[in-house]
Amino acid sequence: MGYIKSAALEETGYVVLDRYDKEIDPKEWLDLDYVDWKSSGETRFAPITSAKGEIEVNGFWNHQPPRTDKDGIWIDSQMAIAPTLTARAKEPGANVGRCRVIELMPNDYADCLYNLHQDDNNRLNPDGTGWIVRGFFNLTNDETSYFVLRDNRTDPSVEYRIALPAGAQLIVDTQRLWHATTLNSENPRYCLITSWESGPELDAYIAKYNGKSRVPNVEVPQEVLDAGQAEQTRRLAARAAFYAAKGQAEKTAMSEA
Ligand SMILES: [Fe+2]
Repeated sequence: MGYIKSAALEETGYVVLDRYDKEIDPKEWLDLDYVDWKSSGETRFAPITSAKGEIEVNGFWNHQPPRTDKDGIWIDSQMAIAPTLTARAKEPGANVGRCRVIELMPNDYADCLYNLHQDDNNRLNPDGTGWIVRGFFNLTNDETSYFVLRDNRTDPSVEYRIALPAGAQLIVDTQRLWHATTLNSENPRYCLITSWESGPELDAYIAKYNGKSRVPNVEVPQEVLDAGQAEQTRRLAARAAFYAAKGQAEKTAMSEA
């Protein structure tokens, strides 16, 4: 049968939507309740939905009974603090699974390459239903930051680098693309991440905001790219050796961010 997927994401695995052009009070993300949760970098998360409506951010498949990343339970206290963010997550009308604000501490391009991971959004997702993809709505104006997306974790030949100014909106098939963020800053980055179910509602949302499956890459000096790649190779080899010494398979997929 297969999953229902968005044609708009077929070519590259992502679309960039029109930039959101309204101001949002930073209290909507700064005043939320955060949970320490390390994921691809130094991070904390503030859930607006969760598996059972509590302030925690574990994957829905790690709860009892385990379930896929759909039908998140909205958290009243967080929605009250972040009404605009809540509205942004609900706007497509697609099923919402996990919805949370990520706080990411600064990290450079080499860190980002090391942090590249695929998400696990579709674990337990029934065949024949909508594939879960994730919306990224950048909140802080991170002019020095960019998303890095790759088809293959260690192959720089396909690498999309997407700028993350305030209001940047992307939808990414994060189970398909390896992804992480470069943040050359002194300040943390905040971004709303929402798991949406693919289907006609999400397709209409992508069309409404002129989703583009290719945008110009953020330009990075070749020597930075080369040094980052070399550092990724070095760190991944060190990590593989660490796990080999413990007799364990290396963990390659993370569920967050
Ligand atoms: Fe992720």
